[in-house]
Amino acid sequence: MTHHMYLIMLDGTLVVAPVENPQNILDVGTGTGIWAIDVADLFPSAVVVGTDLSPIQPSWVPPNCKFQVDDAENDWSFPRDHFDLVHSRHLMTSIRDWPRYIGQIYESLKPGGWIQMLEHDFILVSDDNSLPPGSQLRLWFDLYNQAADKIGLPSIAHKLSGMLSDAGFTEVTQTPHRLPWGPWAKDKKLKEIGAWMLANTETSLEAYGLAFMTRVLGKTHEEAQAICETAHKELRSKRVHAHNLHYVIIGRKPLEPLSP
Ligand SMILES: C[S@@+](CC[C@H](N)C(=O)[O-])C[C@H]1O[C@@H](n2cnc3c(N)ncnc32)[C@H](O)[C@@H]1O
Repeated sequence: MTHHMYLIMLDGTLVVAPVENPQNILDVGTGTGIWAIDVADLFPSAVVVGTDLSPIQPSWVPPNCKFQVDDAENDWSFPRDHFDLVHSRHLMTSIRDWPRYIGQIYESLKPGGWIQMLEHDFILVSDDNSLPPGSQLRLWFDLYNQAADKIGLPSIAHKLSGMLSDAGFTEVTQTPHRLPWGPWAKDKKLKEIGAWMLANTETSLEAYGLAFMTRVLGKTHEEAQAICETAHKELRSKRVHAHNLHYVIIGRKPLEPLSP
């Protein structure tokens, strides 16, 4: 659902970075592998590798697509100067040391190769006060951010372009997309995205919230589940008009090595 939602957001574009005739592509933390599979179909002459901690990817995939179990936070064993494109999406709760992670991506890219990232912030806002202080949805986000800060996984989406520049990337752009949480927007495309977002929250509020609230913040399972359920009910009610920012960030490894 998230993949589909982002395809609508990007008008069907899988690869925003202006790569030409790529030979080697990496998708870090590939999840179901859906981006890697689609990109393998898009570039049949490229080899697309998807890595993840969990081997949950399907085995019936394009012949130029393969998956490996790998921890992106370990030292990378990929050759230096190898990939034309490295893709990284929705790893906000996965990576602790972002500068190190981005540094390893930089090393693995060919000179002239591109990085493409997509992450969102965890600041849900409404323009019409439809997220009142007592809102359980608001509480969900407050608790999420408290827990994330406590265990060293703070929100980094808005900082990524700066991190790419610090790592040596050039031609860095960060494009924010404001997406609605629910099908309340008048704009047809945003309405459709909002509908997918709502469908996603059916499971994602619990998937992202339960462990944080119980294991990190000490709430009981019942308390945490009640917050997730009520938050989802608020979203479904259509009374809440909330949105947040999703950032697409790209950057290019310079063709010439950086001067020391
Ligand atoms: C929210 S999913 C995103 C999946 C995919 N990137 C997408 O956008 O469709 C996050 C994925 O990162 C993986 N992950 C978490 N920590 C990781 C790590 N240290 N190394 C590799 N993968 C990791 C998880 O197993 C999960 O599949």
